[in-house]
Amino acid sequence: MRIRTKVLYYEREKEPLNEYTTVIIDILRASSSITTILSNGASWVKPVENSNEALRIKEKIPDVLLAGEINALRIKGFDFGNSPTEFLNKDLSNKKVVLTTTNGTKAVLTHSNNSEVLIGCFLNINTLVDYLKNKEHILLVCSGSHGEFSLEDFLFCGRLIEKLMINNSIYVLDDASKLALRMVNELGNDLWNFIKGSMHANTLISKNFKRDVEFCFRENVFEIVPFLDEEGFKVKT
Ligand code: MLT
Repeated sequence: MRIRTKVLYYEREKEPLNEYTTVIIDILRASSSITTILSNGASWVKPVENSNEALRIKEKIPDVLLAGEINALRIKGFDFGNSPTEFLNKDLSNKKVVLTTTNGTKAVLTHSNNSEVLIGCFLNINTLVDYLKNKEHILLVCSGSHGEFSLEDFLFCGRLIEKLMINNSIYVLDDASKLALRMVNELGNDLWNFIKGSMHANTLISKNFKRDVEFCFRENVFEIVPFLDEEGFKVKT
């Protein structure tokens, strides 16, 4: 049983990873938004490359809702931005959502042909751990931010690995996974203060998204595992 961590989604794979379950991670904020949207009843969330593609889908399926950001801000004419707290307390029952973001949706699209693609974030971490316990090999994919390493994505990997290894320490970790786990172990309770100092957290706070940052760093708010099929992400039942 192996765990591999890509610290940036476009890292080259040394070998075919067909036997791996892939977890896409963009803590701030795409993976947290997808998890929140689906937890509030949406039938699917379809990640797309850019706003033009989202608008093309809207022409074909007029009742879809459009969500997405450029430079963290809602795209003009879209129903929502990429703010998880915007979706809270909204009844999205049976709604279909098309989402485009700077990094997270691109990380998904780069891996959409992998055998099983899931979404991971702090909001669903324990439910995800329970699901992953039965899987042979796991690939953790950090989206990063504008092509650069993201502290919050990487430390989420460490936290996930820590939880996976509580019951099963026989995983073989690659170097990035070992480092992520070691950092989380060494940080202990200081993890949350440290993670709040990340670059993207600060950018979001400067753009008035402090509530999103605090929300995205909460564990176990939702008990779902989003998985990708041809239509988009749906809730695993
Ligand atoms: C992204 O996918 O690039 C992020 O979620 C950006 C954001 O904070 O909205």
